[in-house]
Amino acid sequence: MKILVTGAAGFIGSNFVRYVLKRHEDVEIINFDMLTYAGNLENLSDVEEDRRYTFIKGDIADENAVRSVLASTRMDAIVNFAAESHVDRSLHMGVEAFIRTNILGTQILLDAGREWGVARYMQVSTDEVYGSLGAQGRFSESSPIAPNNPYAATKAGADFLVRAARESYGIDVVITRCSNNYGPYQFPEKLIPLMIANALEGKPLPVYGDGMQVRDWIYVEDHCSAIDLALRKGAPGEIYNIGAMNDMPNLHVVKLILGHLHKPESLIRHVTDRPGHDRRYAMDATKIQNDLGWKPARDFEEGIKLTIDWYLSNREWLDRIRSGAYAQYYENLYAGR
Ligand code: NAD
Ligand code: TYD
Repeated sequence: MKILVTGAAGFIGSNFVRYVLKRHEDVEIINFDMLTYAGNLENLSDVEEDRRYTFIKGDIADENAVRSVLASTRMDAIVNFAAESHVDRSLHMGVEAFIRTNILGTQILLDAGREWGVARYMQVSTDEVYGSLGAQGRFSESSPIAPNNPYAATKAGADFLVRAARESYGIDVVITRCSNNYGPYQFPEKLIPLMIANALEGKPLPVYGDGMQVRDWIYVEDHCSAIDLALRKGAPGEIYNIGAMNDMPNLHVVKLILGHLHKPESLIRHVTDRPGHDRRYAMDATKIQNDLGWKPARDFEEGIKLTIDWYLSNREWLDRIRSGAYAQYYENLYAGR
C-alpha cells in the first residue's frame, strides 16, 4: 500500500508513520509536510534511512504542490494529519492559517486525490467538532457538530467538505474523530508536555481557570492503531469515534505529573481561563470497537508513565524545541540535497 501521509512531521503523524512501518512490511509512505513551527523532522530521524519512507516538503493548501506529488507516484491512500492544531493559537494568533490549512488544504487533497485516482481518503479529525458536554454522557458519531473555538470550527468545516466529497462525487472517504492524545514527540505547547517541561525546569504550571475541565486522554499509539485499522478495514463514508475512556479533570492530570516527577503542587498557578473553554469531552468509541474490533492497548496510568519517561530521556529534543534550535535540523539534513 502506498500512502501519502500529510503532516507526518508533527506529533501524531510521526507516531503513525513509525507504527505503520513497524506493523506492515509491504508499505510505502510519503510524508508531505510544510514544516510549520509544529513540524519537526527529528521526530522521524530513526526512519529516515528506511527505503519505504520519503519526505517531501510541501503545503497541502498549495494545489500545484499536491498535484505534482500525486502525479509523480500513484498513491493508494491519503491520510490527512496536516493541520494547525492548537486551540490557543487559533484564539490569540489569528485564524487565517487555520482556515487555509484545515479547510482549503482538505479540499485540495480531496480534489487532487480524485483527479489522480487515489482509492481512499482518510481525514484525521477530533472530538472538538462536537463542542462541549454537560456533566453526563459521551459523544457518539451522531452527536451534533457544534464547535466552540476557531480551531474546532475549521476542523468541523473540513469534516463537512469530506462528507460533501463523498455525497457529490462518491469518493471513498473515512473520518476518524479522536479525543486528546498524549505521548512521545508532542509539541510542548499542549497541556501534558508543557506541564512536564515546566515542572522539570521548576517553572510555574499554568492551569486555566479552576482546572476542572475534563479531557478524555488516549495514548498516541492507540490512536495510530485505530487509524491504521480504519484505513484498511473501515467502511466507505463512515465516521469512527476514537477514545480510551480516560476522561479526567486537567487539575488531576497536572497533579499526577507533579507526583511522578516528585515536584511540589505549589508550582501550580491558576491563570485566566481560555475563552469559550469547552467544559467536558468524553468519547463513546463503541462503533470502532464493535465494527472493526479495535481496542486501546494502554491505560492512562501506564501511558503517562511511558510519556514522562520519554520526556526525561529526551531532554535534548525538548530543549531544542524550547530554544527554537530544532528548526535547524531540516537545514542541516537537506541543505545541498
Ligand atoms: P501537530 O501540530 O503536532 O502537527 C501538525 C503537522 O502538520 C506539523 O508537522 C505541521 O508542519 C504540518 N502542517 C501544518 N500545516 C501544513 C500545511 N499547510 N501543509 C502541510 N503540512 C502542514 O498536530 P498533531 O497533534 O499531530 O495533530 C495531527 C492531526 O490530528 C490534526 O489534524 C489534529 O486536528 C488531529 N487531532 C489531534 C489531536 C491531539 O490531541 N493532538 C486529537 C484529535 C485529532
Ligand atoms: P490542550 O492540550 O491545548 O488541548 P485541547 O485544547 O485541544 O483540549 O489543552 C488541554 C486542556 O488543558 C484544555 O482544557 C486546556 C487546558 N490547558 C491548561 O489548563 N493550561 C495550559 O497551559 C494548556 C496548554 C492547556
